[in-house]
Amino acid sequence: MNIKNLLTLTACLMFLSFTTISALAQTQETKSQKSWQPSREVSDAATRSRPDTIYYERKVPEYTLPNPLVMANGTKVVSTKMWRTKRRPEILELFRKYVYGRAPINRPKGMTFKVFDLDRKALNGLAVRRQVTVNFTGKPDGPSMDILIYLPAAAKKPVPTFVFLNFYGNHTIHPDPAIKLSSGWIPKRGRGVIDHRATEKSRGRNYARLERILARGYGLATIYCGDLDPDVHDGFQNGVHPVFDNLIDGKRSPDAWATIDAWAWGLSRAMDYFESDDEIDHKHIAVLGHSRLGKTSLWAGASDERFALVISNNSGCGGAALSKRQFGETVKRINTNFPHWFCDNFKKFNGKENLLPVDQHLLIALMAPRPVYVASADKDLWADPRGEFLSCKNAEPVYHLIGLKGLEVEDMPLLDSPVQKGKIGYHIRTGKHGLTEYDWQQYMDFADKHLKGH
Ligand code: GCU
Repeated sequence: MNIKNLLTLTACLMFLSFTTISALAQTQETKSQKSWQPSREVSDAATRSRPDTIYYERKVPEYTLPNPLVMANGTKVVSTKMWRTKRRPEILELFRKYVYGRAPINRPKGMTFKVFDLDRKALNGLAVRRQVTVNFTGKPDGPSMDILIYLPAAAKKPVPTFVFLNFYGNHTIHPDPAIKLSSGWIPKRGRGVIDHRATEKSRGRNYARLERILARGYGLATIYCGDLDPDVHDGFQNGVHPVFDNLIDGKRSPDAWATIDAWAWGLSRAMDYFESDDEIDHKHIAVLGHSRLGKTSLWAGASDERFALVISNNSGCGGAALSKRQFGETVKRINTNFPHWFCDNFKKFNGKENLLPVDQHLLIALMAPRPVYVASADKDLWADPRGEFLSCKNAEPVYHLIGLKGLEVEDMPLLDSPVQKGKIGYHIRTGKHGLTEYDWQQYMDFADKHLKGH
């Protein structure tokens, strides 16, 4: 071997041993790590695509969260009764006034339900399918929504059911040709959508894992969010707003309900229907939502205690993530890009999160004593996974006051290691923003613990 070859060989050996050592060190680091941290590459890449956004923990500003167990006037909340009668209503009111707005509280007079489709042998005999039009005013030209419902055909008693709003129309959640094709306005990014209208090609394009849910003994109900309010800023001219708006001197007030509130209101109207349907176990309804519709499921669960379990999938800013951390999407960003989602008062906190009298842990706390599940995804830094976890953690004292188990872990769990020890469930899974099979499995496991056999 000449000297040149010898040198090359030595260099190769050195390189190999170095990479082995660093690989070993990395494995050890991963093994000893007990909680999730965002990967450096993901934070770097996110920062490159949105340089003005906080994607590193060290850049999170100092902040103080309002204590769920201290009233605005400084009085300590020391009993379940005080929580129920004083602090809970106070927090709910703060969210109405400053964040989501004020929907009409009562069920509208004259609202009607019309079952326009019933098939007891749907999906080759697997399911009972029902489609129901809820007409909010009872007038033929009034606003309405269609609920699509599948229940397991084998059920012998009323079925606990998951309800969720969908993004692009009921017909997108399954290819079943009997599902009514949505006729309303649909965002153009919806698959098979032409000129904002659904086509036959849209069917089943956002498949919701229906068969697996039915096989686990759950029903599934879904509504197109656009039936309630199309997801576009049009000054609240369409959807349910113009019909039920409470105008003062012809104007909407700064705490008038906006789009998320209208969507949540629609979920409550679906609950009104479930109460009238003997085959649905309306005392065991789980409300679930992804992303903007996860913000909505949380608000629906907070404002309507008839929902027995509340699930937020990657809901982020204005959902499960703490606003005051300013990590990922901020209040200013969301209000600028989606001015129709929250009430006008929320815009006063653009860039001034520290002044917000609430934060999202209080929204989670409003679910108590009911079970609530929050899920994040490790590539979804825009939604601030740690902020979502911290909301759950900071809601926990309320569960403890009531005498219930909350989250029962100190720090974020590792990736793909769901926490389901008490009434607050949490996981962070590998992958991008989305509602996956893995997420559904955890929700059904959690529902098995809290909804079945009660
Ligand atoms: C945008 C928005 C998020 C929202 C998401 C979604 O990314 O900034 O707040 O959750 O859309 O609904 O898909």
